[in-house]
Amino acid sequence: MTVPIAIIGAGIAGLSAAQALQTAGRTVHLFDKGRGSGGRMASKASEAGSLDLGAQYFTARDRRFAEQVRHWVAAGWAAEWQPQLYNARDGQLTPSPDEQTRWVGVPRMSAITRGLLEDMTVSFACRITEVFRGVEYWHLQDAEGVTHGPYERVVIAVPAPQATPLLAAAPKLAAIAAGVQMEPTWAVAVGFVEPLATPMQGCFVQDNPLDWLARNPSKPGRDAQPDTWVLHASAQWSKQHIDLTKDQAIEQLCGAFAELVGCVVPVPNFSLAHRWLYARPAGNHEWGALGDPDQGLYACGDWCLSGRVEGAWLSGQEAARRLLEHLD
Ligand code: FAD
Ligand code: NAI
Repeated sequence: MTVPIAIIGAGIAGLSAAQALQTAGRTVHLFDKGRGSGGRMASKASEAGSLDLGAQYFTARDRRFAEQVRHWVAAGWAAEWQPQLYNARDGQLTPSPDEQTRWVGVPRMSAITRGLLEDMTVSFACRITEVFRGVEYWHLQDAEGVTHGPYERVVIAVPAPQATPLLAAAPKLAAIAAGVQMEPTWAVAVGFVEPLATPMQGCFVQDNPLDWLARNPSKPGRDAQPDTWVLHASAQWSKQHIDLTKDQAIEQLCGAFAELVGCVVPVPNFSLAHRWLYARPAGNHEWGALGDPDQGLYACGDWCLSGRVEGAWLSGQEAARRLLEHLD
């Protein structure tokens, strides 16, 4: 009997590890508490079409990740986004073009993790609450009280605060994860019947409740959508306003948007909000991934490197590499 490897978390880190392990001939079983894959790279279905409420785009600076992105593009899962970029500071809005290549999933961000899931075994809507070892193998307990297993190894690919209790069998790793601070982000989407009278398609914002604005239909594969904007609050503002209701967050961030965008902003005909409690690690780390090879327990995610899609993908690769290195 082949004893599979369990991976908790079907975000880009978990799927990166899964792909590397599967390519090496291993059988994997993924678990995610969400109804679909992607985690912070997921897209939200709405009356205005699919919206990227988490990761907005990604850059590829590492050679291995750039190579992977080329595969995603060839598979039709990703394409380059070339937005008209602006910068907003102290109430001043200035065009801010640059040479950076930026990628997005097509026709929505979640297309990438959806594509990676092909041929993989995954259990959605399954929140793992405990990871424990029997005599020889690992078992997982879920929030419904169901036990899954046996597994030969376990990879925990969830944000650090959620990884901490799952790493209880490896107290040293749990202590490292417990020391990682992750910051929240309030995300709001607003849509308008008539396109706003601005050429702006993306904007980096400083000294404001907002941190980033994106015109969702300016991304490839979304041009049939109405004029819908994704607004991200800064980590500082999000922390200070963590207990707002969704309606309050929409009102305040849409107000900040109307003030800075430099054109008339009518009342949106559509709005929604999402609060990401663990949006990004407060700093970068150089762990790559965490591992207890004697026990066969590993952890990965953006928090092991940099709080970006690339960091998460590389961390998944590193977890798989270390795991395979210690397999008989
Ligand atoms: P996640 O995507 O968080 O995946 C973890 C998965 O584990 C989730 O699917 C979750 O449901 C699941 N899970 C958690 N706990 C359990 C459990 N107990 N049992 C089962 N499943 C569980 N990066 C960029 O490069 N560019 C950007 O523009 C950008 N913008 C961002 C904007 C926002 C608002 C946010 C939130 C993030 C942004 N990022 C951006 C960061 C990027 O999205 C993340 O770095 C990356 O997606 C993290 O991937 P991950 O696999 O490490 O974690
Ligand atoms: P990048 O190179 O486009 O951006 C990095 C940073 O450089 C930006 O945050 C911005 O401050 C600055 N910058 C880049 N181009 C600019 C321009 N043309 N004009 C003005 N400033 C510019 O992308 P990278 O390095 O891949 O970073 C990913 C992005 O994801 C960052 O913007 C980061 O803030 C964002 N992010 C947001 C999270 C959230 O929770 N809101 C979580 C994780 C990442």
